[in-house]
Amino acid sequence: MPRELSLAEVFQLGYYWETKILLTAAKLDVFSALDGRARTAAETGAKIGADVRALELLLNALVAIRLLTKSGELYANTPVATTHLVKHSPQYVGHLLLLHDAEWSNWGKLAEAIQSGHSPVTQHVFETDPALGANVLSVLHRIGQQSGPDLAKRLALGHARSMLDLGGGAGTNAIAFCQVYPALSATVFDLPTTLPLTERTVKEVGLEARIALKAGDFNRDSLGGPYDVVLMSDILHYQDLATNAALVKKIHGHLNPDGRLVIKDRFLDASGTSPAWTAAFAVHILVNTERGSCYRTAEAMQWMQDGGYDSIEEIERTAVVQGMRLSAG
Ligand SMILES: C[S@@+](CC[C@H](N)C(=O)[O-])C[C@H]1O[C@@H](n2cnc3c(N)ncnc32)[C@H](O)[C@@H]1O
Repeated sequence: MPRELSLAEVFQLGYYWETKILLTAAKLDVFSALDGRARTAAETGAKIGADVRALELLLNALVAIRLLTKSGELYANTPVATTHLVKHSPQYVGHLLLLHDAEWSNWGKLAEAIQSGHSPVTQHVFETDPALGANVLSVLHRIGQQSGPDLAKRLALGHARSMLDLGGGAGTNAIAFCQVYPALSATVFDLPTTLPLTERTVKEVGLEARIALKAGDFNRDSLGGPYDVVLMSDILHYQDLATNAALVKKIHGHLNPDGRLVIKDRFLDASGTSPAWTAAFAVHILVNTERGSCYRTAEAMQWMQDGGYDSIEEIERTAVVQGMRLSAG
C-alpha cells in the first residue's frame, strides 16, 4: 500500500506557477538572450521585446528556481540553462518545453473534456505543427538513445534481415537495431513532413545504405515489404482502438513467415492506475489528441489475436508486446 500524501504534498501538487514560469521563459527565449554574458533586466528586455518591470519579476523567479543567477542587477544563466536552454546549444531541449507550452490551452479545457468525454482538439501536434513535431522528435532522439539498443538486444533478432520501423520518427530505433545487428536493413515509414529529420539523423551515423525512408500514411498507404520484423514504437496512443486493431491486422500481411510485430508503447496495467506516469499521460492524451488513448497491454494483445498472430506475449511489463506470423497463412 503506497504511503498516504501529506497535506503539504497535496498543496505542492496543486502548484503550477513554476512550471508556467519555465515554459514562458523558454517561449520568450530568455536563456538565449542571456547567452555569453550577464545582462540587466532592461538589456534582456530590449533583446526579447518585454516590459522591464514585468520581466524583472520573471527573471527573479527564475533565479529562485535556480535556472539563473543574480549578482547586483545582472542576471546570468546557470550551467544547466547554458547547456540545455540556450537555442544554439547542441544539447538544447527547449523544443520539448515549447510543445508543453503549446498544449497549455488544451489543458485549460480539461474539465470540459472530462464532462463531455471529448477532446478539445481535432488534430495532434504532428499534423498541426510539423516543424515543432520534428524538433520535438529530434530532442527525443538525442535523449532517448539508450532504450533502442536495449530493446534490440532483448528481442534477439540475429536471424532477421529486414525491419520496418512504422512511424519511426527520427529513426532512433531503426538506427539502434541496425547498429546492434549488422546484417539487418531497415525501412523507416513516416509522414513526409517528418522524414527530412530522419534523413539527417540516418546520415549523421552513416547508415544511408541500410536504412530506407518511405513516406506515407500508415493507415492508408502500402507499407512495402514483406519484413522479418515490424516495430510500432509510441504511435498507437494517438489513434482510436478500431484504427489500431485494423493497423495491427494490416501488418500481418506485410510480415514474412516467422516474422514478428513488436509494439512498444505506454500501456496501462489492468487497473488503469499503473504505471503512475502513464496514468497521468492518459489524461494528457485525452486533452491533446482527438481520438487517442492509453491502452491496456491486454487490448494490444487482443488486436494481435484478432489479426491472426501466434505466440503473443508481453515481453516487458506495460511496455512491449510481440506477436509472430508463424506460417505463410
Ligand atoms: C511519438 S512519435 C514516435 C517516433 C518513434 N517511433 C519513436 O519511438 O521514437 C510518432 C511518430 O508517428 C508518426 N505518425 C503519426 N501518424 C502517422 C501516420 N498516419 N502515418 C505515418 N506516420 C505517422 C509521426 O510523424 C511521428 O514520427
